Amino acid sequence: MGDHFARPETNVNYGAAYGPHADSGPGAPPGQVPGPAGAVPALRWEEPPEGPVLVLLDQTRLPQREVELVVTDVQALVLAIRSLAVRGAPLLGLAGAYGVALAAARGYDVEEAAELLAHARPTAVNLGYGVRRALAACREAAPGGEAAAALAEARALHAQDAAASTAMAEHGERLLAELVPGGGYRILTHCNTGALVSGGDGTALGVVMAAHRAGELRRLWVDETRPLLQGARLTAYEAARAGMPYTLLADNAAGSLFTAGEVDAVLIGADRITADGSTANKVGSYPLAVLAAYHHVPFIVVAPTTTVDLDTEDGAAIEVEQRPGSEVTDLAPSPLGTQAYNPAFDVTPPELITAIITENGVVSPVTKEALVTVCNQSVRREGSD
Ligand code: MRU
Repeated sequence: MGDHFARPETNVNYGAAYGPHADSGPGAPPGQVPGPAGAVPALRWEEPPEGPVLVLLDQTRLPQREVELVVTDVQALVLAIRSLAVRGAPLLGLAGAYGVALAAARGYDVEEAAELLAHARPTAVNLGYGVRRALAACREAAPGGEAAAALAEARALHAQDAAASTAMAEHGERLLAELVPGGGYRILTHCNTGALVSGGDGTALGVVMAAHRAGELRRLWVDETRPLLQGARLTAYEAARAGMPYTLLADNAAGSLFTAGEVDAVLIGADRITADGSTANKVGSYPLAVLAAYHHVPFIVVAPTTTVDLDTEDGAAIEVEQRPGSEVTDLAPSPLGTQAYNPAFDVTPPELITAIITENGVVSPVTKEALVTVCNQSVRREGSD
């Protein structure tokens, strides 16, 4: 990777300055919550004199270090996507769109770049969606205007994603108030779904952030999210920065938390939602859905309509990314030659999902007809822009 990236590094002042750690207090009072303002953005476009670049916050280095990757070519971006330096469904969509813009601006073969980027990872539908939108803008542009058109499209998608975050947070707040009367929510989440994966506050964590700002978050339970620990490294980082009252747990401790009656709702994101409402999300989501159903706790998916894939009929048709076994065996070194099973995602069937929150409203119960309706609202809006 070294040849492709420049890596400006910043040491992270991680700890008290970013708010209380688990069990150290109730968090900042309502109205005094530091948001993600001042945080290093997950992705940004820059145009230094040497030519346009995409600057990514390297999520593999968090929370210890805030290291930025300055990406100048498509191969480097593909590597960044595969290594999870840039990750999470909505952000992958943005990376795909800006990647096409970068290819166009730097004079690469845009069609080839789009192909490479769209297949960098298979499960998150947003990646291909972002690539296709920027590519379509390129193809429709007047000769010479391709790069500007692709960049404008990437920026439009970025703004759309930020707006979707805000809308999902509003719908989520209303839904939580309905489902958990009395407020003071204890929410369990998995993987990382905050500002690190979005143009805005994120998906599931965006809803949590809104509850926190309203003074209604009693506790955020953060699953470690093995094997790559997106919960322990990234969600805890975002929760700490925002001063949320959060507690980290090993994924396999969730059962006892439900038994103790300590979870009011599970909120997760999604990488792909098929026409029947089956939802692929970070591996470990499905066991949480089973637990939630058994304990009669709402299991809520938060995802923009760009994550809905109506062309795929059901969960069985989702391609689940298989990642290197070394991600599992290296975590706590296993005997040499140990084989590992390492799917990056699992699929939760619609009957285990209480609701899907999109920017266009809440789908509950989860049916194909209801999903088509919320997706059509986005199509109509884009058409009228
Ligand atoms: O492998 P990752 O880290 O890209 O997986 C990300 C997730 O599973 C997220 O929960 C999902 O993309 C939803 S993000 C809003």
